[in-house]
Amino acid sequence: MLFVIVLAVSLLANAAPTHETGNFTYNGFRSANLSLNGIAALTGHGLLKLTNGTKQGKSYAFYPDPITFKNSSSGAVHSFSTTFVFAIIPVYPGLGSPGFTFVIAPRREFPGAQPSYYFGLFNETNDGNSSNHIFAVEFDTIKNIEVRDTNDNHVGIDVNGLVSVSSSPAGFTENNIQGLRNLSLISGKAMQVWVDYDGVQKQIRVTLAPVTVDKPDTPLLSLPFNLSPIFKETMYVGFSSSSGAFLTYHYILGWSFKVNGPAHRLDLSQLPRLPHKKKQKSVFLTTGLPFICLFFLSILVFAMAYVIRKRRKFAEVLEDWERAYGLHRFKYKDLYVATKGFRDQELLGAGGFGRVYRGVLPTSKAEIAVKRVLTPKF
Ligand SMILES: *[C@@H]1O[C@H](CO)[C@@H](O)[C@H](O)[C@H]1NC(C)=O
Ligand SMILES: *[C@@H]1O[C@H](CO)[C@@H](O)[C@H](O)[C@H]1NC(C)=O
Ligand SMILES: *[C@@H]1O[C@H](CO)[C@@H](O)[C@H](O)[C@H]1NC(C)=O
Ligand SMILES: *[C@@H]1O[C@H](CO)[C@@H](O)[C@H](O)[C@H]1NC(C)=O
Ligand SMILES: *[C@@H]1O[C@H](CO)[C@@H](O)[C@H](O)[C@H]1NC(C)=O
Ligand SMILES: *[C@@H]1O[C@H](CO)[C@@H](O)[C@H](O)[C@H]1NC(C)=O
Ligand SMILES: *[C@@H]1O[C@H](CO)[C@@H](O)[C@H](O)[C@H]1NC(C)=O
Repeated sequence: MLFVIVLAVSLLANAAPTHETGNFTYNGFRSANLSLNGIAALTGHGLLKLTNGTKQGKSYAFYPDPITFKNSSSGAVHSFSTTFVFAIIPVYPGLGSPGFTFVIAPRREFPGAQPSYYFGLFNETNDGNSSNHIFAVEFDTIKNIEVRDTNDNHVGIDVNGLVSVSSSPAGFTENNIQGLRNLSLISGKAMQVWVDYDGVQKQIRVTLAPVTVDKPDTPLLSLPFNLSPIFKETMYVGFSSSSGAFLTYHYILGWSFKVNGPAHRLDLSQLPRLPHKKKQKSVFLTTGLPFICLFFLSILVFAMAYVIRKRRKFAEVLEDWERAYGLHRFKYKDLYVATKGFRDQELLGAGGFGRVYRGVLPTSKAEIAVKRVLTPKF
């Protein structure tokens, strides 16, 4: 009897996490069962890749099951909390696509929604319509004046439409240090986000920080807002993204979510690695270095040619009788120096075979006469 009860209890305990909605943690998405749509895909390394190289695409990645957000008796939205790590890697540094959103919506499909700056969530006719029931936090890397974006690098809270209820340039406040430190969303570096809703205080908080920094005490956005009219009883949570004209990769590395309590901490050491950024070939390496090499090579060639020519000028010619009787000769160089380069001023006379020059040997200082025999040119 006791054994059966213990067995039943332990079975229930084992079954509990799978049936529980609104509490999950993905330290990487290796074996994740997400609902993916559009150009979203999981990489073999466990990254959630929201956008690939496709232009003007839409992408969606949702937790597959609906989550109960409302207390059916009071109609109030429960507190919830989520944290995730993302990275945006633009192919052309500094030029991003629209960005991505963390989204909570009554459904996982958005037929008719537009890509580009609509984030695949809205279109021009339903943008801002309260029948959308969509809550989103946008990570926007394009400045769009039509929807009153503050700049091309901001975080905003969107309710039912693209005109943010609250937004701020991307940044974070270090604990115990005054002032906002800027962050570039498209830097390609991993950053962590926390979105917290306090169902009692009716307060939304969005916090951003580099992945190496603990959650800052001061959120980037803190907005008093009652989500009860926006949320339906059950909603889907996930991410949406869209690609624009410039190739950009949006990655989610890990994600944790919980209703009625703080989201489970992500184990940062378990998160998948981002793909290596293609190294930009520097102008120095591609054009400067070959040019410099060519320059030094040509100098070397000229120097060698000069040395060879100089050697040739003073080259000795051994004749047969010299080989037979041993050396008794003056170097051409010495004779050249002695006669000061066969200068006309040193000329003593000229005969049938050549001219005779006066000279002084550089070593013995002996005065000599040198006959320069003209060899016929062929
Ligand atoms: C929530 O899920 C995490 C793992 O995803 C688990 O460790 C934790 O115990 C769960 N919390 C509750 C209250 O069930
Ligand atoms: C992007 O993903 C879509 C859908 O998975 C696929 O059809 C397309 O070929 C991919 N494009 C690139 C450039 O990888
Ligand atoms: C993934 O989740 C969906 C929705 O909960 C479910 O129908 C499907 O069986 C799951 N697939 C796997 C492989 O767990
Ligand atoms: C729902 O709200 C009622 C009344 O406000 C409260 O008594 C109850 O504990 C709530 N239930 C949950 C699951 O939060
Ligand atoms: C806008 O989106 C809604 C809802 O998805 C859809 O019913 C409507 O046809 C779309 N309008 C246009 C002009 O695409
Ligand atoms: C909002 O959407 C609903 C349903 O699609 C539509 O009936 C209504 O006219 C729209 N409201 C506005 C102001 O566009
Ligand atoms: C931070 O960003 C804001 C708004 O984009 C800008 O005005 C400010 O100069 C930046 N500060 C630094 C230190 O870069």
